[in-house]
Amino acid sequence: MKRLPKKDNIVINGEITVPGDKSISHRAVMLGALAEGVTMVENFLVGDDCLRTVKAFQSLGVSIKRSGTTLEIYGKGLPGLTEPTQPLYFGNSGTTARLMLGILAALPFTTTVYGDSSLSNRPMARVIKPLRKMGATILGRANSNYLPLAIQGGNLQSITYDMPVKSAQVKSALLFAALQAKGRTSIQEIEQTRNHTENMLTAFGANLVIGDNTISLEGKQSLQATNVFVPGDISSAAFMLAAAAMVPNSTLAIKHVGLNPTRTGILDVLQQMGAEISVSNYQFIGGEAFGDVKITNQSLHGVVIEGEIIPRLIDELPILALLATQAEGKTIIRNAEELRVKETDRIACVVDVLSTLGARIEATEDGMIIYGKTRLTGGTVSAYHDHRIAMMIVIASLITEGEVSVDDLASIAISYPTFMEDLQSIIVTE
Ligand code: S3P
Repeated sequence: MKRLPKKDNIVINGEITVPGDKSISHRAVMLGALAEGVTMVENFLVGDDCLRTVKAFQSLGVSIKRSGTTLEIYGKGLPGLTEPTQPLYFGNSGTTARLMLGILAALPFTTTVYGDSSLSNRPMARVIKPLRKMGATILGRANSNYLPLAIQGGNLQSITYDMPVKSAQVKSALLFAALQAKGRTSIQEIEQTRNHTENMLTAFGANLVIGDNTISLEGKQSLQATNVFVPGDISSAAFMLAAAAMVPNSTLAIKHVGLNPTRTGILDVLQQMGAEISVSNYQFIGGEAFGDVKITNQSLHGVVIEGEIIPRLIDELPILALLATQAEGKTIIRNAEELRVKETDRIACVVDVLSTLGARIEATEDGMIIYGKTRLTGGTVSAYHDHRIAMMIVIASLITEGEVSVDDLASIAISYPTFMEDLQSIIVTE
């Protein structure tokens, strides 16, 4: 049990950077490993999930050297990847698992992959079904829906595919497979999801045609190494922004944070709720926008979060639910059924944790309803080994009337290893 003591008379104040973006870090390793030449990655996220991706490619014969947050990847193209002698372990990382399936499906040998108990219960059929249509052989338990899986790849054919789920992981897996397939693949999304794979493929020299929620790509393209700068992860910044939005008299600046429009739903909602947000130093590198975000605390009111914005803030919904407990009126979150198949069922876990801490919150099939504004009490909760639930609990403890005790915060290392120190550095006692 970890005790998070009650905080009195604090404000959130200062200027920080947050570690590199998780989604971009994974993709930088993958494309660097598939490209020909040496790729340097700067500001790589040294979190457990991204290190799983590095390990996976090292097991496939790619030389990757790391010094702090800089990676050097010695890519030899797809033919440079060799059959691993041991099963690949993906830990807790859904992005590693799903994106690697798209890559492994193109390799002319057999790979077996497995993960921790959470990852072993996350649906994989969404990726496996289209990969099978392309010609891969993938076997696993429960009708090949769950890890462990065995993949016999090679000789892929192109497909035209209407994605039934809103998932950048599925889209990215198919783009990786399409890159190695014979012919032209077209992918249609229901709603636009994060487009880091498309941006980075372009930066590595691939030719993609991007239309209205469609992407098409000719197979058998080779990639050329390039250098990648990873901006700060807006999904990590979200926890600090929420802290500043909830604690009266706070002002916080976060520098070099990723501002790809497919990820900035959190900023839109913070503004709609009444927080004062400004963005400066807007820049682009490798197709990715980033800049400095400043937030000033103001009184908040409830909002409806639904529709096309959901994929733009899917990972921020736990912290937004906490924030909604501090907003006047009702907040409704709809169309977020994907939350049920994240590292945990994040609808059930958020409702459990926040109601234990004194919030008025109800689960719905595809979201939550939160009635604000409530004074949170404190209490004993579980983080369910989910990094985003764990960070939400720590941020909640800044405003509770009593102490919060939580079973384990180790999962935070998945996406934000320096979270506790960074948070400490912006807490000022008045
Ligand atoms: C991710 C996509 C999202 C997101 C996850 C990272 C990615 O998942 O929740 O944290 O890097 O592509 P889905 O694709 O399942 O929506």
